[in-house]
Amino acid sequence: MSDELDKLLARLKEIQAEGSQEINQAVNKEKLNDIRVKFMGRKGKLTEILHSMKDVAPENRRTLGQQVNSLRDKFQASLDQANQDLTHKLIEQRLEEEKLDVTLPGREPLMGSKHVLRIMEDDLEKFFIGMGYQVVQGPEIETDHYCFEMMNLPKDHPARDMQATFWIDDEHLLRTQTSGDQARVLEKHDCSQGPLKMVGPGKVYRRDDDDATHSHQFMQMEGLVVDKHVTMGDLKGTLEMIAKHVFGSTETRLRPSYFPFTEPSVEMDVRCFNCGGKGCPICKYEGWIEVLGAGMVHPNVLENAGIDSNVYGGFAFGVGLDRFAILKYSIDDIRDFYTNDIRFLTQFRQEED
Ligand code: PHE
Repeated sequence: MSDELDKLLARLKEIQAEGSQEINQAVNKEKLNDIRVKFMGRKGKLTEILHSMKDVAPENRRTLGQQVNSLRDKFQASLDQANQDLTHKLIEQRLEEEKLDVTLPGREPLMGSKHVLRIMEDDLEKFFIGMGYQVVQGPEIETDHYCFEMMNLPKDHPARDMQATFWIDDEHLLRTQTSGDQARVLEKHDCSQGPLKMVGPGKVYRRDDDDATHSHQFMQMEGLVVDKHVTMGDLKGTLEMIAKHVFGSTETRLRPSYFPFTEPSVEMDVRCFNCGGKGCPICKYEGWIEVLGAGMVHPNVLENAGIDSNVYGGFAFGVGLDRFAILKYSIDDIRDFYTNDIRFLTQFRQEED
């Protein structure tokens, strides 16, 4: 019977060698757990030896039991140690991987910037607010009524052809001009309460083929002043101030023009700020650059809004913000405003306030 004991003790030795080796070679905690199960689990190798206890002479069982227990304790201690070592190793590894180099320069976050047309718009708004104008905002989907009829352009008026229109249905359209804002404001205005001074900036749309100087979408700023005794001299003075503010150019000229909602109508040119009038590609060798349309408010526009045109009068102007920006910043393609190339858009950052 002591043969049996010897056999089992020898087997224990093998298990010890095998277990120790496996623990030493274990590369992660999962593996250690597998080893624990393999040797000490319910069906583990040590447990198997205990099951063989019945084959051992009773007087030897104590010895075998002690040996098994002591080996289990050893395994447990080695497993605990190996577990601890692995934890340390993991921490070391993480520290190594997550090492911060505090001397590295920071990464600059990508900052948004104002669109150059917005810069233009904000700047002009401020300019007009400073002169006592209110800022209004009309709808981009406008009605035939406000965009045309109220502005002295009845349905069959030939001047409707001046602005190729995106129609939505018989009555609705994408506004071709911000002039509808004039009608909307005039209609609500009570002239007995004082003068009306407003600007209306916003997007407008025309059915044009896009090229370097045309875009089916662009921006305008409408201006309107209505009061008693408003003269063409007031209009001229205001337009000159705009030119001076935007271009720093003082020399301007008014040319006769035609708009259905103003009479007389003018267009303003500024002296070419690039060549000073000698002629260059920017002014197409004219020495002058056209910058806006304007005129004295047509009596029909006032009457349409219920204002007595014998008592009240006014002037109106419409500036193209795209055109202003193109001229001011020497931009050679209007499409750049709308194609969202971030390299183009961010270069006006220093113009922001
Ligand atoms: N609405 C005109 C245009 O789009 C500009 C304008 C506005 C002219 C106001 C005169 C007065 O061309």
